[in-house]
Amino acid sequence: MEQRIAVIGAGTMGSGIAHVAALHGYQVYMIDEKPGVVQTARVRIHQRLDREVEKGRLTPSEREAVMDRLIEATWDHVADAELAIEAVLEIMEVKKAVFQTLDRVLGPEAVLATNTSSLSITEIATTTRRPQNVVGLHFFNPAPVMKLVEIVRGEETSDDTVQRVQTFATSINKEAVVVQKDTPGFIVNRVLMPLFIEAMRIYEEGIASKEDIDKAIKLGLNHPMGPLTLADLTGLDVDLNVMDYLFQEFHDDRFAAPMVLRRLVRAGKLGRKTGKGFYNYDGV
Ligand code: CAA
Repeated sequence: MEQRIAVIGAGTMGSGIAHVAALHGYQVYMIDEKPGVVQTARVRIHQRLDREVEKGRLTPSEREAVMDRLIEATWDHVADAELAIEAVLEIMEVKKAVFQTLDRVLGPEAVLATNTSSLSITEIATTTRRPQNVVGLHFFNPAPVMKLVEIVRGEETSDDTVQRVQTFATSINKEAVVVQKDTPGFIVNRVLMPLFIEAMRIYEEGIASKEDIDKAIKLGLNHPMGPLTLADLTGLDVDLNVMDYLFQEFHDDRFAAPMVLRRLVRAGKLGRKTGKGFYNYDGV
């Protein structure tokens, strides 16, 4: 079983993945090209672990052991990682550059996984000399809490690679589903984006208030959050990127982003992180 993993990108998803892996005993090399981002992530993880200590689920010494396993690293330090999980910006060229570097610095047996929420695993894999070891490993926000990971096969992903990430997912207490064909949005985002889009259209058309749209889905479908609140949580810029990509790939209006979303993103209102997302918006 893998013992050392590298997580590339220490934003919301990268830090959540690092958190859950370290909690389950992995040594985690954390890399982010932006200075200070890994330190900020470690502070946030420490605060989360403090709450676990307060609730009596973790002892202070266990918390310190988890923090000790979270290592700020550079590319020079990660050569012995058996698994790398990339969680950088959802932009193909940025991901390809990371995979090229991973291919160069990691041992030949290492598995290279991407947390992409929609992009093609096959295309990302073309930048490496080991497409059989490249796989999608898609976590959900907040990663320490959400049970699911989607394992996505690229055209050349080997059964062994799928098996290895399945074992990894089980070892960090996640439930995996295997997406057998590398298709945009995989399962969850292919279903979720039309839900967001329809909720936003209902709002745009003046059919119901944001509060009532969310309440309807929460209570009518037993979702923990309404779609407009959830769109803010996932990040409106991320949502728009995913919708645009699905629209481009499927040529289907199911995935056409509502104008209200595009306007919010252009205005820099990106959701929960800025406190200025869809839910705090009063216009149409
Ligand atoms: N990191 C770690 N733990 C967190 C957390 C975070 N960011 N946010 C909440 N938690 C923990 C809390 O500590 C709490 O733990 P305990 O119950 O063990 O004490 C637990 O989660 C519940 O949190 P709260 O009581 O604060 O609030 P809640 O009950 O409303 O739950 C929620 C919050 C887990 C986010 C819940 O509302 C939920 O499940 N929402 C839906 C989330 C969802 O659908 N995510 C998928 C998004 S799609 C995606 O990510 C894919 C993509 O590519 C865009």
